[in-house]
Amino acid sequence: MIPYSRQLITQEDIEAVVEVLRSDFITQGPKIREFEEALASFCGARFAVVFSSGTAALHAAYFAAGLSAGDEFIVPAITFCATANAGVFLGARPIFCDVESDTGNLDPGELEKVVSSRTKLIVPVHYAGHPVDLEAIAEIAERKGAIVIEDACHALGAEYQGERIGSCRFSLMTVFSFHPVKPITTGEGGAVLTNSEECYRKLCMFREHGITREPAEFKHPSPGPWYYEMQFLGWNYRMTDFQAALGISQLRKLPEFIRRRRMLAELYRELLSGNPHLELPPERSYARSGYHLFPVRLKGETASRKGELFRRLRERGVGVQVHYLPVYLHPFYRRLGYAPGLCPQAEEFYRRELSLPLYPGLKEEDLRRVVEILNRTLEEVVGE
Ligand SMILES: Cc1ncc(COP(=O)(O)O)c(C=O)c1O
Repeated sequence: MIPYSRQLITQEDIEAVVEVLRSDFITQGPKIREFEEALASFCGARFAVVFSSGTAALHAAYFAAGLSAGDEFIVPAITFCATANAGVFLGARPIFCDVESDTGNLDPGELEKVVSSRTKLIVPVHYAGHPVDLEAIAEIAERKGAIVIEDACHALGAEYQGERIGSCRFSLMTVFSFHPVKPITTGEGGAVLTNSEECYRKLCMFREHGITREPAEFKHPSPGPWYYEMQFLGWNYRMTDFQAALGISQLRKLPEFIRRRRMLAELYRELLSGNPHLELPPERSYARSGYHLFPVRLKGETASRKGELFRRLRERGVGVQVHYLPVYLHPFYRRLGYAPGLCPQAEEFYRRELSLPLYPGLKEEDLRRVVEILNRTLEEVVGE
């Protein structure tokens, strides 16, 4: 089976991990700081804090932004459920915003309709690695007094207006994931980038039970050098040092990974541009996509055959995937009162969307085989 995505681990990565396993530090040690510095420098932000997952990083970022019980926060309907869940962890209420019909990204025009004085956060997702229109979203947020946090779990290495995602030029914080299908991996892992020192301090403490070891920050007099204080309720969201070593090694290869992804996306375009059943993902003038995914949309009647198409492609060794069921349609959110029809463009996007295999290690000949099987299977299911 050609999967829809997979990690690319080299001998160099393996050696980096083994070196740490032979050292004194297994959990948070010197590689954590080194990875954080490398990430901050790569993205052009002042601070980076790494976490045990992208979900943990989202939870921490929402906390650091002050999201709390009763607040509203806006997320796009098309995303992985964690974007919404992380706010629910804090007792806040997600407001789902409809998406652009072609990119699947949060639509600034739709944002205008759902934003209000109750909106604490706006969390755009750079779906499939294609940046959202950050400047438009930041302008709306500023007008309404809301904070922007980017869910960039798909978009490390992507660029907006010629600048890397993660610079936080238009947001308070940016969140990444290092799950194996993401642009780089640490097995499980995530990070928050920010230019705010105050957020940085809160993020570090949230990762470690709400504890500080900085004497200057103590609320009570320190009785001795063993003393530390837990000042708010945090979690154990630490990343291990050997994961950070893998992250450092992977980050060095990221520009090459993105180059490969973009080259393969170009090849898909070349081979599929005349296909009457498909619409291909656009790339806006302000965006340089990292192509975390290659999401095509089935046209017209073909969309009603998606189930059969999906099943046959899988049978024939093409590991397609669907990203995503609009989050509010999951049973958990339905129980909270969200109902079908809330975001029509997102529901239509979901009905038509199919992600084709795309990852740095995908061979050109395998991509050509995917296209050949896809073309054949499309004709078959449409003709029946
Ligand atoms: C858009 C988005 N947000 C958040 C997450 C959560 O990241 P993680 O799996 O590292 O917890 C993911 C990854 O699956 C994602 O795709």
